[in-house]
Amino acid sequence: MNAPVDPTSTPAWSALTAAASGFTPDLRAWFDSDPGRVERMSHPLADLHVDLSKNLVSDEILASLVELAEQTGVAERFAQMLAGAHLNTSEDRAVLHTALRRPAGQAPALVVDGQDVDTDVHAVLDAMDAFAERVRSGQWVGVTGKKVTHVVNIGIGGSDLGPVMVYEALRPYANAGIEARFVSNIDPTDMAQKTADLDPETTLFIVASKTFTTLETLTNARLARDWLWAGLQASGAIDGSDAAKTDAVAHHFAAVSTALDKVAAFGIDTDNAFGFWDWVGGRYSVDSAIGLSLVIALGPDAFRDLLAGFHAVDVHVATTPLAQNVPVLMGLLNVWYTNFLGAQSHAVLPYAQQLHRFPAYLQQLTMESNGKRVRWDGSPVTTDTGEVFWGEPGTNGQHAFYQLIHQGTRLIPADFIAVVNPAYPLEDGGRDVHGLFLANFLAQTKALAFGKTAEEVEAEGTTGALVAARTFPGNRPTTSIFAPALTPSVLGQLIALYEHIVFTEGTIWGINSFDQWGVELGKQLALQIAPAIEGDADAVAAQDASTRALLEYYQAHRS
Ligand code: F6P
Repeated sequence: MNAPVDPTSTPAWSALTAAASGFTPDLRAWFDSDPGRVERMSHPLADLHVDLSKNLVSDEILASLVELAEQTGVAERFAQMLAGAHLNTSEDRAVLHTALRRPAGQAPALVVDGQDVDTDVHAVLDAMDAFAERVRSGQWVGVTGKKVTHVVNIGIGGSDLGPVMVYEALRPYANAGIEARFVSNIDPTDMAQKTADLDPETTLFIVASKTFTTLETLTNARLARDWLWAGLQASGAIDGSDAAKTDAVAHHFAAVSTALDKVAAFGIDTDNAFGFWDWVGGRYSVDSAIGLSLVIALGPDAFRDLLAGFHAVDVHVATTPLAQNVPVLMGLLNVWYTNFLGAQSHAVLPYAQQLHRFPAYLQQLTMESNGKRVRWDGSPVTTDTGEVFWGEPGTNGQHAFYQLIHQGTRLIPADFIAVVNPAYPLEDGGRDVHGLFLANFLAQTKALAFGKTAEEVEAEGTTGALVAARTFPGNRPTTSIFAPALTPSVLGQLIALYEHIVFTEGTIWGINSFDQWGVELGKQLALQIAPAIEGDADAVAAQDASTRALLEYYQAHRS
């Protein structure tokens, strides 16, 4: 792998540093003096309309940012990724989530490290479709011959956040009478509550784990198995024999993993198991077999449409000049705010209730990818990296944290995401409620950009100290992403957009966005501390003073 370019050594970085010094953005003046700004800074991205005009950049700054992408080799590295180069240097792996959504039969075939990637991907997709159709049609039945009504995905991180986010976003497409649920947390509350009203005879569990070693997922899978056995025995559906239990697992468990040997060791029939490959990172895996619960609940057609949306954006990134390349431009804007204007976080504000888990999904995608302090060659990064991504759907967020975005002291760039046509077009006394919702989206981006001056406040009759309190400074940057409707394809486009924003930023910073060593230490320590929780005196003694004191509190208050 090439050594990363130090972005701070590029001519573009110097130009941007100069531009940032004494920078006084003025969106009001820029809009007044430049009638072409909106058109120039609005871009199509497949079905999305992306308006960058309310960002704090001039054409010159944008041009320097594009030069930064050129001088750090963003396009070249993207091409390397598509071709199967081992960009994940610390694990010596290719990074090929884009291959998961390549249409069948593309030429030339993608062969990486001796693997015919396209053939393998489509074989798994076809097997998922066939399995899902059996479940959806009722051909697949539980141990007592009943059709599945609930699919429970057991996974965590990338094996949970993608499926649950997509399911929530596309619920209107769930058309087979099958509800999906998602258990992730090892807090037993999660399993207890999600299964409380379920019938074991009509429940299908999917254990989703890339490694099939994750403590939370395997613990929850065992809890689910015990729940299944206990429920079936209680109703007299099965006896307590090993054979009956094995048969019950065969009818009520499927699995998704790269480690099919471990799936078999758990007792799940590998005929009900779907594989993927080490070149798919967990947070990039919703479009792999990890999406099995979605194929079952939403249907194969919706899932294929989702994949087509991803692919459309992959093609855009690979073929569009950087100056019109939407994910690259959005990644560059994030670099501008982070490295030159001092922003530390980035809000994602969907004006679509169905996207209520999208910010949570993006938190793993962005922060597990780019929350790094060393570059892909092991050397320290040369700049700040990795914004904190956060958000809530509008309009809920308006009544919670927008105050700080409008009038606080911090710069918080925000992405607003909205769709024209709602899934549920309700009216309130003849008034289109979704139209009212969208009026809020437009109002917020307008207020953030243009604010309200003291003169305008005074003109409304306000005087004295209240004037300052009621003044809005404006120049709060936003990007507006608008789509005709939240179809599966549009959702795929949105996810791929953010995947490639992450890629752009990671490349500029010199980061391997595809490993996650930062989650390992806590996992190791949890395994060491577990015996101490169970009262092992040596394990308690091995802890630091604070941990020992917390363990004492735990033992003293245990009921
Ligand atoms: O949190 C670390 C992590 O490895 C994520 O990257 C991953 O998505 C998650 O754990 C779950 O891992 P697995 O799918 O192997 O159970």
